Amino acid sequence: MKPSGRDRLIIALDVGTRAEAISLALTLAPFAAWMKIGLQLFTAEGPDLVRAIRETGAQAFLDLKLHDIPNTVARAVESAVGLDVQMLTLHLGGGSEMIRTAVSVAPDTLLLLGVTVLTSANRETLRETGIIDDVSQQVVRLAKIGAECGIGGVVASAREIGALRKAIDRNVKLVIPGIRPTGSDEHDQKRTMTPAEAVAAGADYLVVGRPIIAAPDPAIAVKQILEEIESAL
Ligand code: C5P
Repeated sequence: MKPSGRDRLIIALDVGTRAEAISLALTLAPFAAWMKIGLQLFTAEGPDLVRAIRETGAQAFLDLKLHDIPNTVARAVESAVGLDVQMLTLHLGGGSEMIRTAVSVAPDTLLLLGVTVLTSANRETLRETGIIDDVSQQVVRLAKIGAECGIGGVVASAREIGALRKAIDRNVKLVIPGIRPTGSDEHDQKRTMTPAEAVAAGADYLVVGRPIIAAPDPAIAVKQILEEIESAL
C-alpha cells in the first residue's frame, strides 16, 4: 500500500521551547505522522524533548546533521537509537568511512538519512568552498556515495529528484525540504518547489517548517498542504 499524505509529511518543529513544540505536535498530529526536531530545539530542550514528542504518538525525526570523525558519528547514532527516533540525519560530505560506520550501528527501525547539499545553498555557496560542479552534480555525487554505503535515504531539494531517481536505487528514500506552497515566502531557501510538484516529481517525504509553524493558523496551513499532497498522489 502506498503511504498516505499524512505518512509523508514531516513537520519541522523549528521553535525554541518545549511548550511550543508539544503544542504544535499535538495540534498537527492529525495531519502529519512525523515531527522533526532540529538543532535549535534539541540544543534548547535536549533528549527529554525527543521522548516527549514520541509520547504524543508522533514518529520522531532527529535532524542533527552529524558530521564528525567516524567513531564520534557512530556513537551519536547509537545515542539517538536509545532515544527511539525513527529518522536521523548525517552529512554525506563526511565521506564513505564515516557513513559506513554510522550505517553499521543503525538498526532496521532507524531510517538513516544523508544530507547532500543544503536547500539553502546554491552554486555560489559551492564555489566558495572549492566545489566547481553545479549543485545537482554535487547532490548526485554525494547521494551515490551514500547509497553505496547503505544509507536509507537522502535529503535533497525537489529540483534534484529526477536526477537522483536515475542515479540511485529506488529503495533509497528521498526526503525533500525547501517546500513552499504557491505564493508563500521563500525565507532563506533557494531551491524550492510546491508540495504537489515535489510529490509528482517522486518525493517520498516532504519536510515543511515555516509555511506551517509560522502561519497564523498552523492547522489550516497544514490541511491545505496535505490536500495538495493528496491531489498529486
Ligand atoms: O521552514 P522551512 O520549511 O524552510 O524548514 C525546512 C527544514 O528542513 C529546516 O528544519 C531545515 O533545517 C531542514 N533542512 C533543510 N535543508 C536540508 C536539510 C534540512 O532545509 N538540506
